[in-house]
Amino acid sequence: MVKVEGLTKVYRHKGKPEVRALDGISFSIDRGEVVGLLGPNGAGKTTTIKCLCGLIVPTSGMVMIDGVDTIKNPRFGMGKLSAVLEGNRNVYWRLTSRENLSFFAGMMGISRRRRAAYIEELLRIFRLKEKERSQARYLSRGMQQKLALACSLVKGTEILLLDEPTLGLDVEASYEMRQLIKSLVADTGKTVFLSSHDMKVVEDLCQRVIIINNGKVVTDDTVKGLQQLFKVSSYRFSLEDSLPGEVKAQIEREFRLSKVTEDGANAQIDVELSSAERFYDLVDILKRCGCAIDSIDHKEPDFEEIFLKIVKGEDEKVNPL
Ligand SMILES: Nc1ncnc2c1ncn2[C@@H]1O[C@H](COP(=O)(O)OP(=O)(O)O)[C@@H](O)[C@H]1O
Ligand SMILES: [Mg+2]
Repeated sequence: MVKVEGLTKVYRHKGKPEVRALDGISFSIDRGEVVGLLGPNGAGKTTTIKCLCGLIVPTSGMVMIDGVDTIKNPRFGMGKLSAVLEGNRNVYWRLTSRENLSFFAGMMGISRRRRAAYIEELLRIFRLKEKERSQARYLSRGMQQKLALACSLVKGTEILLLDEPTLGLDVEASYEMRQLIKSLVADTGKTVFLSSHDMKVVEDLCQRVIIINNGKVVTDDTVKGLQQLFKVSSYRFSLEDSLPGEVKAQIEREFRLSKVTEDGANAQIDVELSSAERFYDLVDILKRCGCAIDSIDHKEPDFEEIFLKIVKGEDEKVNPL
């Protein structure tokens, strides 16, 4: 449904070094999929989303929706997707919640009669009824974000782009926003592409995740697939003794992303092992210093850890596995 190919964006400002925000990004999204675009700050998420919705013109590359090049045909793209951009400027500051919804509905040419019922429904679903007469600028950040999402739905497009939908929201508002997105997907089957720098949000909402860093795609996999991939290589060695200081230092030096913790008289080693060979290397080191191994377990990797590892691995230009 959406196909992005070789998307590149170089920002050029007079007197400043150019910034290659996107460096040949390619991916595709099928109808009905919920895909996360994950990456640290400055990775290029907002730039990607703005290219998708036609707000900026890429330096090179292609965006196709249903086979139509939307960079050449921006009107076609506009009819296919709506976006909630990062920050709080998606709605009109001085209009009330109801007026904002009414304005966007009017823009879409929804008849006055249908509009009333529709707006009523949106105010109810988004629990904005009691604030329907408050100007957007006086709403809490969470309410503004809900209103922005409601306004983007008014357009009735198949594809929804959400840039950092939970950024700046408190725990409760973030939870509510995620629930709203989930029920939206369940009830309407919308295709959603959302960006976040927070792995937990992506894990909670998306089936698939595209990780970008420095303007490049690092990983494109299902959330389950990523967890599985890392589960295989994450081990926890529990020892019967504590580890001599120099052995501890050696392990932490020689094994990528290893961590030794002491639990009373017992040491634990959490480590990523890239191959069976490395597994035996570690066993050898422990044998040589006479440390008895109590147990070896696969560690359930934390999704946030996985993300950090992938991004860190990419920065070090080594295979994350
Ligand atoms: N309008 C702009 N002019 C110049 N550089 C920009 C502009 N917008 C973003 N950038 C730069 O492009 C890179 C990617 O930014 P962005 O897409 O906003 O990343 P993200 O949303 O992942 O944090 C960053 O280095 C950022 O500083
Ligand atoms: Mg951004």
